[in-house]
Amino acid sequence: MTQTHTIRRPDDWHLHLRDGDMLRAVLPATTEHFARAIIMPNLVPPVVTSADARAYRDRILAALPESADFTPLMTLYLTEDTDPQDVAEAHASGLITAVKLYPAGATTNSASGVANFDKVSAVLEKMAEIGLPLCTHGEVTDSAIDIFDREAVFIDRVLDPIRRRHPDLRVVMEHITTSQAVDYVRSVDAGLGATITTHHLVINRNHILAGGIKPHYYCLPVAKREEHRLALRSAATSGDRRFFLGTDSAPHTDANKLLPCGCAGCFTAPNTLSILAEVFEQDSALANLEAFTSLNGPAFYGLPLNEDTLTLVRDMPAFPGHIDTPDGPVTIFDPDMPLHWTA
Ligand code: NCD
Ligand code: ZN
Repeated sequence: MTQTHTIRRPDDWHLHLRDGDMLRAVLPATTEHFARAIIMPNLVPPVVTSADARAYRDRILAALPESADFTPLMTLYLTEDTDPQDVAEAHASGLITAVKLYPAGATTNSASGVANFDKVSAVLEKMAEIGLPLCTHGEVTDSAIDIFDREAVFIDRVLDPIRRRHPDLRVVMEHITTSQAVDYVRSVDAGLGATITTHHLVINRNHILAGGIKPHYYCLPVAKREEHRLALRSAATSGDRRFFLGTDSAPHTDANKLLPCGCAGCFTAPNTLSILAEVFEQDSALANLEAFTSLNGPAFYGLPLNEDTLTLVRDMPAFPGHIDTPDGPVTIFDPDMPLHWTA
């Protein structure tokens, strides 16, 4: 039996690092394994302007563990007031790698997101012109739409119309959770990709709701039925260049998760690679792990591949249940299965 598995060093194409004490507490878990990450801008207040992104990048760089070799790829949080010129300048200077669309109210810290998509048309037009990708949180916020259907409805009502209006716009559907999203991405040859999280490859909605409510499995978009998890797994493990890893590692303190109205998000940065190796091996697809973690993302974003490598060793990893932060403990995602690879 193979005892080691070496891949190009991976990148994380969707990551929440937060700020301040939490940033310093969670950053080492990512820099230990990943060379680059797309940094989500949903801080309070959000990272809206190029000046905000520059300042946040500097705070991340200042918080890096000594000897870490890590590049944060910054994003701007799209609002109805975003200035196309500011976006273009941030892109031209190399400061930002993408712009993030949150429908207003869709998820954690999305209140300043977009309610009227017509109002961001000029920004999207500029992004299409300069080749700057749009990352989408793909859920409608219409309270009449069942939460388990909000991704599929977003594709029909919002995403497809945007892509028709801006055919040259490069789009990443973030953290997809449904077979409809997998099918939609597969129906397009170029200019559309999707990130898939670690946890959505492992859990379905039963993990959250059966046998007692499990707040640590609650994230957005919420995990769906088993058939959707299987569609995600087949997309991720297939090696298809349109699908790549975005962990959506989203730390919240236990105090904020375990509330009557608890926060959405799973903290997966520490054990993501061990879990992914397990998932890909279970599906006899370890040979495609590198495509998912290290090749497809850079290809979509037009960035060079990482030159260094990461070796997984067949050795049962030991993860603590949580990490300690000055704000309180943050629970590490429990994959609910034995793991056999250490990164
Ligand atoms: C994210 C967070 O906590 O910032 N939460 C989550 O459940 N994924 C926001 C997001 O990506 O939707
Ligand atoms: Zn996220």
